[in-house]
Amino acid sequence: MTAATLPGAQPGPAQGAGPASLRSPTPEGAARRRLLLATAGTVGGLGLVATAVPFVETFEPSARARAMGAPVEADWGSLAPGQLRTVAWRGMPVWLMRRTPAMVAALDAPNPDLADPDSRHSDQPPACRNPTRSLQPELLVAVGICTHLGCIPSLKIGDAGFESLMHAREDGFLCPCHGSRYDLAGRVVRNVPAPLNLPIPPYQLLAGQTVRIG
Ligand code: FES
Repeated sequence: MTAATLPGAQPGPAQGAGPASLRSPTPEGAARRRLLLATAGTVGGLGLVATAVPFVETFEPSARARAMGAPVEADWGSLAPGQLRTVAWRGMPVWLMRRTPAMVAALDAPNPDLADPDSRHSDQPPACRNPTRSLQPELLVAVGICTHLGCIPSLKIGDAGFESLMHAREDGFLCPCHGSRYDLAGRVVRNVPAPLNLPIPPYQLLAGQTVRIG
């Protein structure tokens, strides 16, 4: 390759830069120069590899971290109508609940007592922004952690005391810590400490009534 020449520069050996052998025009000098440059490049490359390896190891996720983030599959076909099962996903309780047709109909009806009936401010996959907050009306999949301070709400079905708290809704979830209440789609009612609807995690429905969360 021919070296580029700057406009106005004079051809000839570089002035005052480097050892004399690197400026030598003889064949022996040129050979030594190539050897020195090749050696320097190799040492520099080894240094780069040695520096990079610890970072690769640092960023490699541990088996535990992979397990914590891995999707979880669960069968929901064995749930009886009205039954709820909890599965663990990323260290959180995720509810699977099979709602009855009457429960689904109640969710579809307008309820002025809900704080965010259209789930505009809550966390859910886009396909779950509907009255049942689900991919399939029958099946609720929700993170069972109160959006106030993180207690675990409990399911209330056909409880007369709860019905009065829920403004004539018979069923829902009650958080025992400070009294927040949610309907069977995880939508929070007005005037309770919890500010948001329960989160809906990302999930898919697989063949054979299996759900994959995550
Ligand atoms: S943590 Fe649920 S109401 Fe406070």
